[in-house]
Amino acid sequence: MTELVRMENISKSFGKVQAVQNVTLTVNENEIVGLLGDNGAGKSTLIKILSGALTATSGQIYFKGQPARIQNTWDAIDLGIETIYQDSALVPQLSITRNLFLGREPVSKNSLLPNRLDKRRMEDEARKLLKEVGISKNIDPNTPITSLSGGERQAIAIARAMFFESDLIILDEPTNNLGVEETQGVLRFVKNARDKGASCIFIAHNIYHVFQVVDRMVILRRGKKVCDVRPSETNIEEVEKVITGILETLPQSAPL
Ligand SMILES: Nc1ncnc2c1ncn2[C@@H]1O[C@H](COP(=O)(O)OP(=O)(O)O)[C@@H](O)[C@H]1O
Ligand SMILES: [Mg+2]
Repeated sequence: MTELVRMENISKSFGKVQAVQNVTLTVNENEIVGLLGDNGAGKSTLIKILSGALTATSGQIYFKGQPARIQNTWDAIDLGIETIYQDSALVPQLSITRNLFLGREPVSKNSLLPNRLDKRRMEDEARKLLKEVGISKNIDPNTPITSLSGGERQAIAIARAMFFESDLIILDEPTNNLGVEETQGVLRFVKNARDKGASCIFIAHNIYHVFQVVDRMVILRRGKKVCDVRPSETNIEEVEKVITGILETLPQSAPL
């Protein structure tokens, strides 16, 4: 097992609110880690520190064994960390193609038209990607995001992460507000990403979804890490008890 990322002793406060307190979170290569906890437990804050949307008050991040300085989202993307938020960072007015390449558009090699967007290449790639994530059914890559369903939008965001071959894909409640089919789609994408060698941090309210896909679960309670356990070592009832604090932790939890 090779460690891909290590967030070590991470703390983050907003004024008097200690959102994350001394949390150490590791993700191995080819591993899906579920991050669980009640509303306000600090899940989003923790992953925003990894995706560069927030900077930690203290602590250190290591990526592939090297200390990493992640001060903005581009630093994270450069390292190979892609984040898919609940309402993913897509621009609704723009087409599928433009969204897939947002900020990383290939430019034309044609010397007569230097630095022009390579639209042909973008569209060809977009078509391939749509097929890969299972929404090829005659969707024109020029379709604006506004006319897609929630699940299709998630698929676009995931396709983007896949195209850029991110090593770590972070999904913060990607299945909220999705229908059954769409949710299964997202869960399938997560498994696919792992099959392709990527790692994921998966945040979801629905513990049944988490149990279906993750290799390991980390539970936060009021900003602190309280449990680190594999689904095969526990069950949904126990995990719920730890989330709510009825149980402090689980005997089978790995060292915190
Ligand atoms: N930008 C912010 N400013 C002030 N407090 C915040 C901010 N973001 C989050 N918090 C607080 O930090 C705590 C953890 O929030 P969050 O990380 O969003 O939790 P979760 O994602 O687990 O629901 C909460 O008490 C929340 O109110
Ligand atoms: Mg959150």
